Amino acid sequence: MIRLHTVSPISDIAAAPSQSSYPPPADFAAQANSGPELYQAAEADRLGFWAQQANELSWAKPFTEVLDYSQAPFARWFADGRLNVAYNCVDRHVEAGNGDRVAIHWEGEPVGDCRSITYAELLADVSRAANALTALGLTAGDRVAIYLPMIPEAVIAMLACARLGVLHTVVFAGFSAHALRSRIDDAQAKVVITSDGQYRRGAAAALKPAVDEALSTGGTQESVQHVLVVRRTGSDVAWTPDRDLWWHDVVGAAEPEHACEAFEAEQPLFLLYTSGTTGKPKGIVHTSGGYLTQAAYTHRCVFDLKPATDVFWCTADIGWVTGHTYAVYGPLANGTTEVIYEGTPEYPDQHRHFQIIEKYGVTIYYTAPTLIRTFMKWGREVPDAQDLSSLRLLGSVGEPINPEAWRWYRRVIGADAVPVVDTWWQTETGAAMICPLPGVAAAKPGSAMAPLPGISARIVDDHGDLIAPNDPCAEPVTGYLVIDEPWPAMARGIWGDDQRFIDTYWSRFAEQGWYFAGDGARYDADGDIWVLGRIDDVMNVSGHRISTAEVESALVGHDAVAEAAVVGAIDEQTGQRICAFVVLAASHSEVGGTIIDELRQRVTVEISPIAKPRNVHVVPELPKTRSGKIMRRLLRDIADGRELGDTSTLVDPSVFDAIRAAD
Ligand code: WT7
Repeated sequence: MIRLHTVSPISDIAAAPSQSSYPPPADFAAQANSGPELYQAAEADRLGFWAQQANELSWAKPFTEVLDYSQAPFARWFADGRLNVAYNCVDRHVEAGNGDRVAIHWEGEPVGDCRSITYAELLADVSRAANALTALGLTAGDRVAIYLPMIPEAVIAMLACARLGVLHTVVFAGFSAHALRSRIDDAQAKVVITSDGQYRRGAAAALKPAVDEALSTGGTQESVQHVLVVRRTGSDVAWTPDRDLWWHDVVGAAEPEHACEAFEAEQPLFLLYTSGTTGKPKGIVHTSGGYLTQAAYTHRCVFDLKPATDVFWCTADIGWVTGHTYAVYGPLANGTTEVIYEGTPEYPDQHRHFQIIEKYGVTIYYTAPTLIRTFMKWGREVPDAQDLSSLRLLGSVGEPINPEAWRWYRRVIGADAVPVVDTWWQTETGAAMICPLPGVAAAKPGSAMAPLPGISARIVDDHGDLIAPNDPCAEPVTGYLVIDEPWPAMARGIWGDDQRFIDTYWSRFAEQGWYFAGDGARYDADGDIWVLGRIDDVMNVSGHRISTAEVESALVGHDAVAEAAVVGAIDEQTGQRICAFVVLAASHSEVGGTIIDELRQRVTVEISPIAKPRNVHVVPELPKTRSGKIMRRLLRDIADGRELGDTSTLVDPSVFDAIRAAD
């Protein structure tokens, strides 16, 4: 049993003179899609509220029952309704007369390599791909692995699968052949869709060889019948006749019309693998009606989406759930014009994202704190060189955003004016769960604020008792973040392993029937929620629980620090000792003699002497996964002097040589 101790509130870390909350500008609130009445409506009749959201979609057969939770925790939403997800994302916009609206402004990494695709064109492309996949023998319920860079074909392939009731499992194109193999095997995919290569950091990098390697190291029973290859870089590829097919041959020759079938709402839509505490990745299962309902609803309300005028850009790769929900299904279900960018933010230079915002007049920009902190490290001259005045809303996702980064994001990228929404959710929740409504909340930097209308979450102690909002005069208490009512986009299971689904998420508070998200959180004095990060990112020093995120936030609050990662290293005396790795800002690249003492002192002052890092290592870079998450596990290995664990998901394994050299 984990004992919960008290920690200082993150809000204390925010420098005192800064504004502590940011109400929406009056003109924004006046035009916002969602006002406070949305909370009231959901509160008064939660299931009726969700039925209303679901009815924003087009149903081939209307549902009569909203929720069947008789087989908890395996929920069925809108179960007797029928719909086609791709029809909802594409056809219906064309039928409504918006076929000429751009669906995707696609920007390749090489400058000038770009394509704008209208909804009418997308419909033809998706229809061709659906016909081609049918010709390859795929039928509803089959699985297709998609291993593609951020090119239009990736979205088209996903939608073509959805159109056929075929499950896609997108594997991030930065993953190794080994990771791809295990996902193909687990899903028993019949087709793999890949490309010859992709552009990364200005160079063509091969991709298909990883598929060849994955398939040659074959499972006991090879499920894959075909590999469909998109030509992206034009580089030579090895070819396995009969198995390998060019996308442009097969899809290019297919008919651009396809009459789609409606599937039941609980038809599985996709599998998405995410790592758990064991080595075996979990194939999280999402289904159609409930997932699309919440994807579209949250996209409309959280991002205040106005389909006729907005240009939306979610920077996440489709290899992650954020890319599924907010680069594909949410935006397209809402008839949005969106941007998709293939490459890295620093190619050909650090201006790239800001140039893209200027070029397409992006109005809503949604990214991760790790990128925001990278921008901070580069300095404000970079974004200041472009016209970012089109932006009217900013979003953050993926990890707790430290107040310093939140404020910088709003001030520098958002012209000190636009709402910032910090969105808490997970692969397993399918769509946003806890975050401010931009036209309603007086958002606090670092707080995800409150559950969205229709969502019910609470922070509880070991016994499941609700934790009280923080009494400013007493020590604040950290608890477990749980979701205590089913929600439409919730995972329907782990592929092939129902028991693991129950054990992983539903056993901690089995008696109450709550989903435990794995995150620690606390309420502030107003009852707003501060997510502190994974429980396993919480350290225990001399019996005090200290969140890595809190110490990091204090460190990053120092002018000299661009990025910080904190881990608990094993200590015989205190259980764990706090070990910090910091990257200095460009303006402070000289490692002065006092900086380490200053940083330790800052944490002492900001949080407590018990949170003071024993060790502060100034390093040139932090080890990150390709999704931008800092790999604390590997930093713990370093801090504990162990051999490094599995580094296969790192962007750049050589970062460790640099860290060791700096040490
Ligand atoms: C974990 C889920 C949601 C899509 C991207 C990540 C952390 C995510 C926030 C946030 C604090 C956050 C949590 C969560 N997380 N967003 N706004 N504030 N923490 O999806 O890979 O499934 O990771 O990311 O720890 O449990 P994921």
